[in-house]
Amino acid sequence: MRRGPAVRSRFFPILSLFTLLSTAPALPAGERPLYLDPNQPREARVDDLLGRLTLEEKIGLIHGDSKFSTAPVPRLGVPQLWLTDGPHGVREDVGPHDWNAAGHTDDYATFMPALSVLGSTWNPDLACAYGEVLGEESRARGKDIILSPIADIARTPLCGRIYEYFGEDPHLVTRFSVESVRGIQAHDVAACIKHFAGNNQEMGRQTLNIDMDERTLREIYLPPFQAAIREASVWALMGAYARFRGERCACSDYLINRILKKEWGFQGLVISDWGATYSTREAVLGGLDLEMGTLKIGSEEGRPYRDYYLADPFLEGLRQGEYPMSLLNDKVRRNLRVLFALHVFDARKAGALNTPAHQAVAQRIAEEGIILLKNLGEALPLDLSRISSVAVIGENAVRRNANGFFGAGVKTMHEITPLDGIVKRVGDNVNVTYSAGYSKEGGDSNLLDRAVIAARQADVAIVVAGLNHSRYLDDEGWDRKDLRLPYGQDELIERVVQANPRTIVVLMSGPAIEMDPWLDRVPAVLQAGYPGMEGGTAIAGVLFGDVNPSGKTTCTYPKRLMDSPAHALDTYPGTNGTLFYKEGLWVGYRWFDAKNIEPLFPFGFGLSYTRFDYSGLRLVKGRRPEDPAVTAEFEITNPGRRAGAEVAELYVHQEHPSLPRPVKELKGFKKVLLKPGETQKVSLPLNRDAFAFFDAARGGWVAEEDTFTILIGSSSRDILLQDTVNLAQTKPR
Ligand code: BGC
Repeated sequence: MRRGPAVRSRFFPILSLFTLLSTAPALPAGERPLYLDPNQPREARVDDLLGRLTLEEKIGLIHGDSKFSTAPVPRLGVPQLWLTDGPHGVREDVGPHDWNAAGHTDDYATFMPALSVLGSTWNPDLACAYGEVLGEESRARGKDIILSPIADIARTPLCGRIYEYFGEDPHLVTRFSVESVRGIQAHDVAACIKHFAGNNQEMGRQTLNIDMDERTLREIYLPPFQAAIREASVWALMGAYARFRGERCACSDYLINRILKKEWGFQGLVISDWGATYSTREAVLGGLDLEMGTLKIGSEEGRPYRDYYLADPFLEGLRQGEYPMSLLNDKVRRNLRVLFALHVFDARKAGALNTPAHQAVAQRIAEEGIILLKNLGEALPLDLSRISSVAVIGENAVRRNANGFFGAGVKTMHEITPLDGIVKRVGDNVNVTYSAGYSKEGGDSNLLDRAVIAARQADVAIVVAGLNHSRYLDDEGWDRKDLRLPYGQDELIERVVQANPRTIVVLMSGPAIEMDPWLDRVPAVLQAGYPGMEGGTAIAGVLFGDVNPSGKTTCTYPKRLMDSPAHALDTYPGTNGTLFYKEGLWVGYRWFDAKNIEPLFPFGFGLSYTRFDYSGLRLVKGRRPEDPAVTAEFEITNPGRRAGAEVAELYVHQEHPSLPRPVKELKGFKKVLLKPGETQKVSLPLNRDAFAFFDAARGGWVAEEDTFTILIGSSSRDILLQDTVNLAQTKPR
């Protein structure tokens, strides 16, 4: 039976031709099937519903029936399942059968800061709050699965989606992924963690064959995914586009069947990235449970769904006996499990959209995520009582970023640009001028001269520089070509600071930017990232001292691209279609430490308007098996005159490992808010996993008997306290 085109409204599925032709009877009147009974165990409900579905209905559940949905089964009350991007808020509706904006009037959402900004808050509570916004808004928008968070590791600073990544360190990425999932799923919405696995650059993302040694896979790239399952019971996971050791990631027997489902016991749904399925056999056998976004040449115009690999071709294979029914049932079971986890047949939590509370979360993330990279002679904060004019320069001061993303555009109620934020904050007594300084489109050479004149005439110049979501900058599908600022912004900054030494640079971009042409001459630099709808308010808050900056870098900023490992070893972007991660474990600061390379800004770095003193480190060993193996206790004092938040970072170093290990690895961190003069005790517990490494020869993770140095610092290159502890061997887990 060929399925006819289905016509559906977004929230109220209408019976499709498919359903009308279904041979299965409707439920007898009066019967209350077990699967509708909320008091029954989830698995019993799944089994019951599974047993009632026809073969065709089952097939309808495991592939898309529009860009972002799967088919309903109205006769059994199974609703259409709606998916949505994405990391920066609930995406604007598209399609249903193309990528064009749907033109709905009810698809506004809170535009959140990019995940790189969230990561640089170093405050996982905000990841949970972020998740809650996404969860509540997904519910309000009728979405069931939100395609977030991104748990990919920032391996190269050129990566076009690095602004969507939490950072370069697996522990940091893990903490943020876990908390985001918890927040999202608290609202009867499934998180979909992505992109599993080895998705770390855009260049060649659909064609590359990725490989790395097993230890690197286990220690660097897999931990955030595993923790999201173990600690937050994430309900969905997206397979990446590329191949891993020859197998398509979304259909990889090794990654999905063996590691994810067998080793880790994942019970949820494996979804393909949009168009990441390439064969029925691979998808059926490789553990894919939901095929989305396939583009098949030769399919019926706009309605290719019945031709999806997991649609008619799979149905045909099942009928011919090519595949056992158990494979189909496992996929359907996982899809149904998600429905029950989301309480779609029961009382489901209500959502909320565009609330002041959500906007406040967006603002708080922006405020805590802005990083003060340089502040010579207390150039910041700016004192409004001593300023009568400000020259704001640069297109990024007025650019709106919400709807420019390839895969994650958000339709926002408002977006406060840096210029908006500054104008509002300084009030009527300060004269603010704006000059673009350059044009993204090229052309007008007078723009630079005009900006220089404006800078000369003002008390302070604020250059809002950086990148945007254009091809070869911070954009999906393409990597950057280098780490320089585009559009002649280096020259613009040089000329502006020449004209006015009181020049502040605010960077709006993902990490990282090369700054050598001007960094020495500019007194203060802020990294603001893409700070979302309240970003301008947050930037102005930091500039004028209402907010004391507390963000820290989540990626090493290299002085030169060639200092970072993937480039130093010439592994980027891969050779003849294969990309081997030659640097192995030595990603980010692990490489800079091992090779003793001075970065431009180290991992975990960020200044404050106050300072912090660290003292009194004590390492306390756990006594009972359930205790943490070691707890690091110490004090932090704020001796300054302003309240401020400090992120204390804990790194572990093993003295005599039997295999080479990084000089140090982040294993704990905590952000503490301190009033002027206040001292607080900080406790960072470490379990045995914090000391372990992966040794395939010994069957997995091992924590050896050895001496370990615990390093506590304000950044990876500013270690302020350290002590050693001896620990006994623990078995591989
Ligand atoms: C991206 C995913 C996204 C999907 C759906 C893909 O191109 O890689 O992150 O969720 O599109 O928009």
